[in-house]
Amino acid sequence: TLHRHLSTSSSSGGIERMTVFGAGLMGAGIAQVGAQNGLKVILSDVTDQALQNGLQIITKSLGRVAKKKAPDDIEGFTREIMANIETTTDSAKAVEEADLVVEAIIESLKVKRDLFGFLDTKAKEKCIFATNTSSLSVTEIAESCGQSRQANFAGLHFFNPVPAMKLVEIIRTPHTSDSTYEALRAVTTRMGKAPVTCKDTPGFIVNRLLVPYMLEAIRMIERGDATPEDIDQAMELGAGYPMGPFKLLDFVGLDTTAYISSGWREKAAQGQISEELVRPIPILDEMVKQGRLGRKSGKGFYDVSSVFGGLD
Ligand code: 3HC
Repeated sequence: TLHRHLSTSSSSGGIERMTVFGAGLMGAGIAQVGAQNGLKVILSDVTDQALQNGLQIITKSLGRVAKKKAPDDIEGFTREIMANIETTTDSAKAVEEADLVVEAIIESLKVKRDLFGFLDTKAKEKCIFATNTSSLSVTEIAESCGQSRQANFAGLHFFNPVPAMKLVEIIRTPHTSDSTYEALRAVTTRMGKAPVTCKDTPGFIVNRLLVPYMLEAIRMIERGDATPEDIDQAMELGAGYPMGPFKLLDFVGLDTTAYISSGWREKAAQGQISEELVRPIPILDEMVKQGRLGRKSGKGFYDVSSVFGGLD
């Protein structure tokens, strides 16, 4: 009965061992959905405390999953899936056997390039490298690696909360090979996700549309057109969105949205996205300066406990 809770699908493009760098919310979620679907996962971060925090995120989320999938054996379900996850702070060891590396560390081009440049010398030649970046160029990150690895390099963009959101965006750079792309389609499908494909462009598909939409919502309150509560209600009940733009801003983090938007201003200068969509918004910058970041700081557009009571 050992494997009774695990997926038995074996078609995952030859990928059985996945190493995830970064044990934050995204990295933990990616490790979890891999483990839940039978991959052998190594979760790596720079400190033991970060790893412990990541394991806690996973345990809590698995509790929610278990309530639906194995209500009579929540502990057993959780234990069985956790058995597929190892942790280490030793990044060289972490990739020794990996078929796939997924990076979900901080959104810094330099830090990501340093990590991948190092891993390129440690991982198997066939190992596929993927970044979960939401705001940087995948191609520029991949260029930290040698030619042959660049063919085995792509973006793999998951959505928050990873265990609940079905989508994954696969980002092909001009160097990504067909076999790498196919292997990523297969493994993400095995992870229970629905893959879509996009070129390496600012925001890929989802954020390219969502970020300007959220920014325009803030401009509406800046102009005094409507209240955040009414705008959220309008988009939830009139357009069927699960969360209106202000709840979503609080959920994603105002700092994250401001960071993406400021990064795109440079890309607007190069003609990759229209300048108008990302022009600065004083209210947003002021809220970020005051530390009103949304759910992560307890207060954003809403007093967060009133909106995200049961959400993790
Ligand atoms: N772990 C496991 N399961 C979870 C979970 C978690 N952390 N969070 C939610 N779930 C599951 C619930 O158990 C539930 O499952 P069920 O339908 O099988 O019972 C399902 O997800 C729905 O959750 P809830 O019933 O608790 O609450 P909601 O119906 O309000 O859904 C939500 C919550 C899924 C977060 C929904 O509000 C939503 O889709 N919001 C929009 C989220 C979104 O747009 N995310 C993308 C942000 S952009 C991004 O991530 C990109 C980045 O680069 C910035």
